[in-house]
Amino acid sequence: MSKRYTITAALPYTNGPIHIGHLAGVYVPADIYSRYLRLTGNDVAFICGSDEHGVPITIKAKKEGVTPQDIVNKYHAIIKQSFIDFGITFDNYSRTTAQIHHDTAQEFFKTLYDKNEFVEEVTEQLYDAEANQFLADRFVTGTCPKCGNEEAYGDQCESCGSSLNATDLINPKSAITGNVPSLKETKHWFLPLNKHEDFLREWILKGHKKDWKPNVYGQVKSWIDDGLRPRAVTRDLDWGIPVPVEGGEGKVLYVWFDAPIGYISATKEWAAREGKNWEDYWKDEDTKLVHFIGKDNIVFHCIIFPAMLKAEGSYILPDNVPANEFLNLEGQKLSTSKNWAVWLPDYLIDFPNQQDVLRYALTANAPESKDNDFTWKDFQARNNNELVAIFGNFINRVVVLTNKYYDGIIPAPSDYSTIDEETLAAVKAYPAVISSSIERYRFREASQELMNLARLGNKYLADEEPWKTFKTDEARTKTVMFVALQIASALAVLSEPFLPFTSTKLKGILNSNDNGWEDVSTKDILIPASHQIGKGELLFSKIEDSEIQIQLDKLEASKKANEAEKKVTEPQKDEITFDDFTKLDLRVGTIIEAEKMPKTKKLLVLKVDTGIDTRTIVSGIAESFSPEDVIGKRVTVLVNLAPRALRGVESQGMILMTEDETGKLVFVNPDTSTTPNAESDGVNNGLQIS
Ligand code: MF3
Ligand code: ZN
Repeated sequence: MSKRYTITAALPYTNGPIHIGHLAGVYVPADIYSRYLRLTGNDVAFICGSDEHGVPITIKAKKEGVTPQDIVNKYHAIIKQSFIDFGITFDNYSRTTAQIHHDTAQEFFKTLYDKNEFVEEVTEQLYDAEANQFLADRFVTGTCPKCGNEEAYGDQCESCGSSLNATDLINPKSAITGNVPSLKETKHWFLPLNKHEDFLREWILKGHKKDWKPNVYGQVKSWIDDGLRPRAVTRDLDWGIPVPVEGGEGKVLYVWFDAPIGYISATKEWAAREGKNWEDYWKDEDTKLVHFIGKDNIVFHCIIFPAMLKAEGSYILPDNVPANEFLNLEGQKLSTSKNWAVWLPDYLIDFPNQQDVLRYALTANAPESKDNDFTWKDFQARNNNELVAIFGNFINRVVVLTNKYYDGIIPAPSDYSTIDEETLAAVKAYPAVISSSIERYRFREASQELMNLARLGNKYLADEEPWKTFKTDEARTKTVMFVALQIASALAVLSEPFLPFTSTKLKGILNSNDNGWEDVSTKDILIPASHQIGKGELLFSKIEDSEIQIQLDKLEASKKANEAEKKVTEPQKDEITFDDFTKLDLRVGTIIEAEKMPKTKKLLVLKVDTGIDTRTIVSGIAESFSPEDVIGKRVTVLVNLAPRALRGVESQGMILMTEDETGKLVFVNPDTSTTPNAESDGVNNGLQIS
């Protein structure tokens, strides 16, 4: 029975490209589900877009010396392309900086405001006086009051998943300056979740939500049991959607208030383009709304967003929220900042046209009910032992033999043997088996059933051995090849949600595009005798150990780089831009005179010939060098540092020094490299003049 579905996939933050964790946790399962629903004749709106507000984006922009808009433009384009490349079939991929989203989110806020669904309150919030900034969300870290994780954020603890208010954190610390924040009064609008507690309890716990995944149901239940509190939905920030009511000047909507509304705005944008009515997809009780997310998003999709939708009053609520657990990579948590990830654009460079291999490996090993580990060895094994050895091998044998024996024209069968009949009956059972797994959000299981169908084909050929009967029994060989071609045809149809590129290729090879999902179980003949198929083309190819080694080496390099970074640059200073760097006027100079500054331990007064002039520089190196040591030394001089008086002597520049591996102070010497990283270290550590 055809039904209307609104399928959403979590809007990715545009502060970096996406990696295999995103694909495995959200986008591949959501795409399998959406493709399957379309194939079975449903009306589907598969919706996503870029989540472009929020603190991480402003932090990244600040670091790179560009605007937040620059950051989101860059990553929106990269992420959108990755989705196209990997065959994720969104009906619309929008973005939260779009005008239609700003309008939709503001309107939503105003509706709740007008309905008195908010509590307006002046409270004390964490404040960083040095940065002149209130500290919410990712601007502040501290210890989680629930689980003790010391790196919890102001809105959420990623360790236990709890949603937090910034003032809940124990020992809060500003992520901008590292300072201990003070408290300062400010006005915000709060969504009183406590007011919706009964409704949520009823809806989730007593309703039909028992068919939710145990991890989702369990988390939500425990939060509700803990008691819900009001939650601020506005922020004192300048990047975001302006609060559209009186007194909201200079404030923006909390990113987690606006982002889920992005599902609605993206649906509106799509409906306008396609001549549809968006409200059918959000306000009709017969529409089934499903949110695909990672587990860190559960509270927002199962408590906060439903409370918002309920408070608004005219929307449907999600039917299911099939959240996945996390995917690790080679035993370690995926991490953007540590570059511990497989980035989708990089994958495609190393494995061009092998999107389906990654889709398959991630699905077969999806973190559905517990965290799971992606290893390159497993990836290789999934490809070589399953896609190549089972699926690819079966198709290849069928296609090659059909071409070899019958010039690619499908032979007519004679009477079926019992095995033939059992085999064809088994094929007919697959659509229902795979459907049942997909409809219960068990995509791993579904992908394994698909592989079982290919296994069935392989076994059939191995048992019936048409290459042997070809010489002895023409009629039997034709029957066997005919049956095998029906299996190949079924695979072309049923593989589509999982292996869309392969499915298209296979339909091309079989020269057949006529069958739908249901046909596989209802039709006796999927591909008829006398039909001409095409020449073979390998669907999959073996991945060699050397290719896997390259990937492992890359990860090893990330590990080394992380360790090196820890060693050399801790405590690390803020990143600077190239423009900052080019402000430094560095010259090669020679020290021509040197004497100790009277009555000090540390200072030497130097005369330095800089090539442009001779100047006096006071340098704090007397504990490491005597005047005789340094006369005649060639050094690197920063000549445009503002002059500064030290003990009455004006110092007109700075001599760059750094430390060697043993911690000994050395010159950044322009002639011989004293340390491997002399240049960057010299600039970083500079010379402490006093
Ligand atoms: N950007 C969020 C994340 O990556 C997900 C937002 S989902 C939405 O964790 F519902 F807010 F859209
Ligand atoms: Zn915690």
